[in-house]
Amino acid sequence: MRSHKCGELNTQHLGKPVALCGWVHRRRDHGGVIFIDLRDRAGLVQVVFDPDAPESFSIAESVRSEYVLRIEGIVRDRPEGTHNPNMATGEIEVLGKTIEVLNESETPPFPIESEIEVNEEMRLRFRYIDLRRTEMQHKMKVRRDVTRNLRQFLDDNEFFEIETPYLTKATPEGARDYIVPSRTHQNAFFALPQSPQLYKQLLMIAGMERYYQVVRCFRDEDLRADRQPEFTQLDIETSFMNEQEIMAIMEQMIRRLFKDIIDVDLVDPFPVMSYSEAMRRFGSDRPDLRIPLELVDIAEEMREVDFKVFSGPANDPHGRVVAMRLPEGGDLSRKEIDDLTKFVGIYGAKGLAYIKVNNLEAGVEGLQSPIVKFAPDEVWAKVMAKAGAQNGDLIFFGADKTDIVNEAIGALRVKLGLDRKLLSGNWKPLWVVDFPMFAWDDKAQRYTAIHHPFTAPSCSIEELKADPGHALSRAYDLVLNGTEVGGGSIRINRTDMQQIVFAILGIGHDEAREKFGFLLDALKYGAPPHGGIAFGLDRLVMLMTGAHSIRDVIAFPKTQTAACPLFNAPAFVSEEQLKELGIKLRKPAGKDKKQD
Ligand code: AMO
Ligand code: AMP
Repeated sequence: MRSHKCGELNTQHLGKPVALCGWVHRRRDHGGVIFIDLRDRAGLVQVVFDPDAPESFSIAESVRSEYVLRIEGIVRDRPEGTHNPNMATGEIEVLGKTIEVLNESETPPFPIESEIEVNEEMRLRFRYIDLRRTEMQHKMKVRRDVTRNLRQFLDDNEFFEIETPYLTKATPEGARDYIVPSRTHQNAFFALPQSPQLYKQLLMIAGMERYYQVVRCFRDEDLRADRQPEFTQLDIETSFMNEQEIMAIMEQMIRRLFKDIIDVDLVDPFPVMSYSEAMRRFGSDRPDLRIPLELVDIAEEMREVDFKVFSGPANDPHGRVVAMRLPEGGDLSRKEIDDLTKFVGIYGAKGLAYIKVNNLEAGVEGLQSPIVKFAPDEVWAKVMAKAGAQNGDLIFFGADKTDIVNEAIGALRVKLGLDRKLLSGNWKPLWVVDFPMFAWDDKAQRYTAIHHPFTAPSCSIEELKADPGHALSRAYDLVLNGTEVGGGSIRINRTDMQQIVFAILGIGHDEAREKFGFLLDALKYGAPPHGGIAFGLDRLVMLMTGAHSIRDVIAFPKTQTAACPLFNAPAFVSEEQLKELGIKLRKPAGKDKKQD
């Protein structure tokens, strides 16, 4: 139908006849001449119709935005002074000869412009229109380029791409499952995989040695800007490689990806930090290293002070007291500090103490804050020195249970860093290692797995049994600019170790057999040492395109409430279908909602 793409025409095509297809991006009538900006995936080109060709001219007069056209014409130079440097095809235009309307269009619900603010519900409802925007087309292209680049690297390195089932049994990754009723096995349900974790381990036991898959994962969990109920992983598993070897090859893959796709040289090697150091310095296991602010422990100084808010947590083994210096933060207004106090409140902090450093040389006289009176001068002098305070700074304080301080001051650190543009460097990757094996869930009174229950500990069975709370795992996360883009581990490859870990997690013998009997059996048949990693493909593309949400790099994402406004899914199903599945709804579906 066409000889060229609109967006690829340039001065090399001058004088050439072309046939183009595309959408009417804009039509302008200019005193007897009609300009149509014709758009296809490659970009825009200006087509001119003049009254010399009356038939085409009258069709051109009738077309409207988003009509689909086929145009034949001749490429010509733009007249002197009308070159458009903002347009890739801005030096030329096409003099239209014939025009054929391939299809008409109603007025679109919003214009196909990148700068236009449209609410997201609307964008998702008319996603096929939203995706026509140049910006979205670019994101889809980058996503294609990223996937292709990663696949190529893995293919070149002898990884096999192998598909694993979607209709399966629960694989625990810490979220709720999406379940699918079975018609042929009444009362039984499949679970959609939270990840292909157990399949990829079985593939290693099956001797595949190097596997990967670009794979959809399903997790029913609270949604955020970087979380979707279904998302894509680049899932990888290897045999006979230790964590250093796996991290090294993965690093190579990611470094090449950034170079090829966005021409960024990531540091070589990526820095590695232990989980405990990350928590101590940044209050987070995915620190954004572009932000120079750090948490400084001051419990030691605060044990004896006359201020319960600080001395309480300072003397509590599960408490933490920190200072965080905001350079030149003295200009923050009372209202701004109040807003920050509300912000940390979201994370459970009961307050946000602060000191304005007016004049260090003047001792406490130079420190401005209602809390200065609670501790002797020499204590503040020590705290100021520890925090690295300088005149004009603001020092924030957090005191509470360790988790609350880490979350609240960790989040404050990121907020201040981004709001006040304190970022140094554009790309800061980091491996976080030496995670604890387990976290204690106070409510449930049991341990939960920090990574997943198949992750190997770095200690022996005896040591693990003796003190599970302090055991470290052989897991590693890749963090980029404060986003966890990948996570993996060396796996348990022995039945006895796997059973102990299940036991520590409160999964008894019978439950373990019922849920994971196939794994426990498989581990008995020569399971090689193996380990792997999974990258969040959507998150990688989000970072590489500068998108604010992974929804912007997924063609058909779900809303914040895990629904699809385009298909109106999830939806009710017919009584007949339910009957076939042997399902009776506890609360019969109201016809008032959803089905309209
Ligand atoms: P994990 O649960 O850490 O590990 O997931 C791996 C990576 O997937 C991305 N990710 C998500 N992206 C978008 N929306 C979500 N809801 C979401 N959840 C996770 C993150 C994360 O780093 N089986 C293990 C991997 C392994 O051990 O090899 C796993 O799934 O970028
Ligand atoms: P109060 O004596 O409760 O008025 O608190 C004095 C200062 O300490 C105020 O600035 C509070 O915001 C702050 N504050 C209260 N609780 C905490 C806490 N847990 N961590 C840090 N600062 C706090």
